[in-house]
Amino acid sequence: MDILIRSTPAEVAIAAADIFVRYANAGATLGLATGSTPVAMYQELTARYERQEVSFARSRAFLLDEYVGLARSHEQSYYSTIRRVFTSHVDFIDELVQSPEGDAADSDRAAAAYDQAIRHAGGIDIQLLGIGGNGHIGFNEPSSSLQSRTRLETLHPRTVQDNARFFENTDSVPRYALTQGLGTISEARHLLLLATGTEKSSAVRDMVEGPLSAHCPASVLQLHPRATVILDEDAASQLEDYEYYRFVDEHRPH
Ligand code: PGA
Repeated sequence: MDILIRSTPAEVAIAAADIFVRYANAGATLGLATGSTPVAMYQELTARYERQEVSFARSRAFLLDEYVGLARSHEQSYYSTIRRVFTSHVDFIDELVQSPEGDAADSDRAAAAYDQAIRHAGGIDIQLLGIGGNGHIGFNEPSSSLQSRTRLETLHPRTVQDNARFFENTDSVPRYALTQGLGTISEARHLLLLATGTEKSSAVRDMVEGPLSAHCPASVLQLHPRATVILDEDAASQLEDYEYYRFVDEHRPH
């Protein structure tokens, strides 16, 4: 795992954007994520697009996950969210920004179709990830099989609580989602996980230094040959080998 520690969330966004633009400009298939953490990176990418430093016109995108039971037009659906916070502000071809069909009559079928769609597109070149306070990635909650495929998942009570800020109240938060599985995510050629804030610090420690375990789904990154983790100081604050990671980052051989 490549671990980059930056002083502030703004610097995390810049470091992540530096990596992402290389893929976009090469017309790569991009895996996008919703949630609060990547918003600053999306703003940075939008600014670079406006300065004509990056184009998404040759890229396609797949979202990580989607709530079950919300219409696409619902403002909190991830279909709507990714357009509002990012893709509609740059030159993505809208039909090439795909997400699981959370309002399908048959969720199992929609999940399998999404997994297939990613494969048919040739796989994802770089998958952006956040991490839940409970160690989830996508909506792969603790106990998810490390080889799971895109599927219907029940949200963990902590996730419901964490996401209640986007809804009128906790009762309005959907209880189910379709999520790329941990096996699906692991097939992306490069994983880029961003985390900021102390509320992520124990999940980050478990992901980086804890045992490989379904209890911390993000620990599956330990098995990936190309995983980059970009943290601010707060998210990195519980890492035991903090000084070593800083040293490695500052003394890269190339
Ligand atoms: P957040 O969510 O970026 O809103 O903290 C991350 C996640 O739950 O995966």
